[in-house]
Amino acid sequence: MSKKLEVWRRGKAEGKKLSLVTAYDHAFARLAARAGLDGVLVGDSLAMVVQGQSDTLGVDLHTMCYHTAMVARGAGNCLVFADLPLGSYEGSLAQAWDASVALLKAGADVVKLEGGAEMADTVAFCAQRGINVCAHLGLTPQRVRRWGTFRRAGKTADEAARLEADAALLAEAGAAFLLLEAVPQEVAARITRNSPVPVIGIGAGPDTDAQVLVLHDVLGLSEHTPGFARAFMEGAEIVTDALRNYADAVRQGHFPPATGASD
Ligand code: KIV
Ligand code: NA
Repeated sequence: MSKKLEVWRRGKAEGKKLSLVTAYDHAFARLAARAGLDGVLVGDSLAMVVQGQSDTLGVDLHTMCYHTAMVARGAGNCLVFADLPLGSYEGSLAQAWDASVALLKAGADVVKLEGGAEMADTVAFCAQRGINVCAHLGLTPQRVRRWGTFRRAGKTADEAARLEADAALLAEAGAAFLLLEAVPQEVAARITRNSPVPVIGIGAGPDTDAQVLVLHDVLGLSEHTPGFARAFMEGAEIVTDALRNYADAVRQGHFPPATGASD
């Protein structure tokens, strides 16, 4: 097992909480590594936070590979997760394999796909051939057009039971990680307890093995921060102030300073 994967395996075994943040470029991947995060996720959320789209449906595999390559160059000891975008993996096993290999060649350590039991064959196919797969369950943003909203999952007893069964099936199929988005805390806790592989949560309470947040939410740069996220700095204020100070300095002739005659 690779050293970076071993950190995650040991983290789960020893009950040590792991943290993951999304990253979309080299600069922030480098900072995440410097901050000692355990992983970075090149999320298809880049469609929203980087490209300004209203959901994640519009991002393609080429774009995911482009960002994955930049992130991988800066990620250091962080395990690099990358999303398989909508339309790149659901059609057939061969399609999923080709897309996963493209992300791997771009530098991903783990590929993430959305879905439950219906993706078990795909997970098994890729896992048996040496790819680390993370299965993303619960709120699956690529299916937003089905629900019409970013809908929480696992609220009814039936839904919770299905989520638990799907999680077990996907781990059995060979998923190296599970990710639970927007599911009730007690459901996430149960899945985590029963899962042989590390479970990453977002909006799923404190009991999963790891947490993930969108970088722009952590930094306070998002226009709309979901309720379960937390801004750990007032990034929008800080960046706006810096840019305003720069523009003011130029307007007032304080920047740049005069250069000497010898320059
Ligand atoms: O695309 C993304 O950022 C994600 C996380 C929010 C889990 O899938
Ligand atoms: Na995603």
